[in-house]
Amino acid sequence: MKQFERSAYCGSITQDNLRQALSLCGWVANRRDHGGLTFVDLRDRSGIMQLVFNPEISPKAHEEAHALRSEFVICVKGVVVERSKETINSDLPTGKYELQVHELTILNKAKTLPFMLDEADNVDEELRLKYRYLDLRRQTMQHRLSMRNELIYATRHFLQKQDFYEIETPILTKNTPEGAREYLVPSRISPGSFYALPQSPQLYKQLLMASGFDKYFQIARCFRDEDLRADRQPEFTQLDIEMSFINETEIVELMEQLFVSLWKKLFDIKLEVPFERMTYDVAFSNYGSDKPDIRYDLKIKDATSLFAQTELSFLKSVLQKDGKIGAIHVANAPYSRSELVGWVDKAQKLGAKGLLWIRYKDGEIESPVAKFLPEDFVQQVQKMVPDFANGSVLFLIAGPYKEAWTLLGRLRCELAKSLQLIDDSIFKFLWLTDFPLLEYDKTTKNWQAMHHPFTAPQAGWEDQPLEKIKARAYDIVLNGYEIGGGSIRIYDAKTQAKMFDLLGLSPEKAQEKFGFLLEAQELGFPPHGGIALGLDRLLMLLNKTNSIRDVIAFPKTARGHDPLMDAPSKVEESQLKEYGLKFIPGKVK
Ligand code: AMO
Repeated sequence: MKQFERSAYCGSITQDNLRQALSLCGWVANRRDHGGLTFVDLRDRSGIMQLVFNPEISPKAHEEAHALRSEFVICVKGVVVERSKETINSDLPTGKYELQVHELTILNKAKTLPFMLDEADNVDEELRLKYRYLDLRRQTMQHRLSMRNELIYATRHFLQKQDFYEIETPILTKNTPEGAREYLVPSRISPGSFYALPQSPQLYKQLLMASGFDKYFQIARCFRDEDLRADRQPEFTQLDIEMSFINETEIVELMEQLFVSLWKKLFDIKLEVPFERMTYDVAFSNYGSDKPDIRYDLKIKDATSLFAQTELSFLKSVLQKDGKIGAIHVANAPYSRSELVGWVDKAQKLGAKGLLWIRYKDGEIESPVAKFLPEDFVQQVQKMVPDFANGSVLFLIAGPYKEAWTLLGRLRCELAKSLQLIDDSIFKFLWLTDFPLLEYDKTTKNWQAMHHPFTAPQAGWEDQPLEKIKARAYDIVLNGYEIGGGSIRIYDAKTQAKMFDLLGLSPEKAQEKFGFLLEAQELGFPPHGGIALGLDRLLMLLNKTNSIRDVIAFPKTARGHDPLMDAPSKVEESQLKEYGLKFIPGKVK
């Protein structure tokens, strides 16, 4: 006979189970003694069911129930009964019923937990991560992981129906300069040689196109050794897709259909498609970002011409160096003077050297630079911002275009939060297109691929200056987060070699690093393209949390540490020797 005859999940009990004899297994969420009866909330992954131990029904079980403490693991047998009217708990889906227990088995006891599960939201995250298995017992976390499971299942289902093949690609792979820094794994058999963990399956999926698997996908684990943030983990999961003989529109439409089917399945919401589209240049000039949150307006205006004749030396010097002055207009700004001054501090924390504010109040201009502004300043502003009126504030940042606009973009997000302009109940998707192919890295004095070196340039690129070349790339943004990106790829060796050359890779280095790709491109490579979605970011947004750690079962801390297993950790000298490695203590960059 089975030891545990679980016949139902706690959260699944309904009217249909009334008077049935059931067996439930789970954790004691709490125990209460009331008028001779003992009540226990029993929890499993599906929810909670109230147990009642009545000495008149089973004196033995009632006696044993006194020993129950929070988080004991038990198995009970009993009969489902209706609760009396006054004891119905309308907050619980099973709140109309209780299990009248006949038999109790304590399977495992629990000491006092390091933190109370129902107070975990106020517990230091490091402690929650150290005891992640306890943290994951909480219903919020169970719900998040259940949604993760549903999303992945629905995604697979959708893609299988569209004739995609799911193909796994290696985790131990080659170190290739693709963008982010990679994790290296020493080889014991070939001392001095290293594998790299893949930043993404990018090159393998392209090679699969060369093999003829023209619709591929993978729920792929990716690894990047980069500075961590709330929306970045060193290992994360992508939905990786690649297709042959397609163009941008087909990929975009496929992804829109995927989102439509996911929203329908997960929330029974009908998403409107097509999603909005915007070029990179428009996004950057209006929002100072390549992932703008378009749930609110607060666009950046170019206010450079307002100050063409300015006597203010700091603005003058910016303008002399071809810099620009950008402005964000807040109508009916609810800020006191000291709050306006406070925004200067905030802008500095965001990285700005300074922030200028100009308020129009009771027909007067108020600003630290008021006396330097021309008499007709209000009329001039109104030409640029027609609704500039009493109560309006302009926040201005001056500097090189890229820098100033990036800071204004950050300021825009902070202003929107403070003005409560963000509607959390909506999902605003946006496709960003026409990205620059390359960006100049001032520190290395090199051009770099904005996406990766395999992205195809738009037609006519050979005749354009490098900064003007646009990529056949597209990103998908949801509520101000980049949740995915992809491109049409280069598929001929000549263009690929030219691209490596533009990126400063000598032909020898290109051969050493990417010889296999250049060769494949001469052995019958089809035109192809693809995309990857960051599933953790997507799930973070779907769960309305602000950290991807909340939707990953065992994430790392912001310092890349796993407090549960204590990884990374030191290894024995003898293990290092096996790999021919020696640890040199000192500062790590
Ligand atoms: P990209 O580098 O833009 O593209 O990555 C695709 C998406 O993955 C998510 N993402 C991350 N999520 C969590 N933690 C991280 N450290 C992290 N880094 C990226 C983002 C991002 O939009 N090979 C290309 C895709 C392609 O061209 O097909 C790639 O990896 O949501």
